[in-house]
Amino acid sequence: MYPPEERERRDPRPIRIPNLMIVQMVDRFYEKVRAHSELGPIFDEAIGDNWDKHLPIMYRFWSSVLNTSGQYSGNPMRVHMQIKQTVIPENFGHWLSLFQETLEELFSDDDVAFIFKKAENIAQSLSLGMFYNPASPHAMPVPTGTANS
Ligand code: HEM
Repeated sequence: MYPPEERERRDPRPIRIPNLMIVQMVDRFYEKVRAHSELGPIFDEAIGDNWDKHLPIMYRFWSSVLNTSGQYSGNPMRVHMQIKQTVIPENFGHWLSLFQETLEELFSDDDVAFIFKKAENIAQSLSLGMFYNPASPHAMPVPTGTANS
């Protein structure tokens, strides 16, 4: 047998959410996004005909977030700051409800809760980066988390 540290190096990280499910989740989610009256145009403008590039980026992103696979190397904050003029804080609520709807179609309750929490945390930090203005506290989006519970 290997010493514990060697065993850790050799064993791959456990996969909580299989890649095939991540692909289905991303594909289904962006189908909904593209059909959404407010989110659709934002994505159309930014992505245009480049969905074949965007979707694989999102597969890698979620594989990194959910399975700690290290497949994604990018800077979501920078990308979202670039589209900030076309987004309003309420769009985060739209984004999260389509995402939750997608998760409920595909995953068990436990996995829905696990994945949704990750999305909610990232949404909160992106929306703070995009919209937080210390001089204007009323402009802050209402957090969707469970701060008071
Ligand atoms: C109001 C909500 C949101 C809108 C309107 C939005 C819109 C977009 C758009 C248009 C792009 C493509 C930009 C481009 O390639 O030029 C993008 C990329 C991306 N979004 Fe969002 N997004 C939202 C929320 C989120 C959330 C909550 C997450 C994560 C949980 C997320 C993760 C990402 C990632 C990882 C990318 C790719 C970044 C890269 O190219 O490396 N987005 N988003």
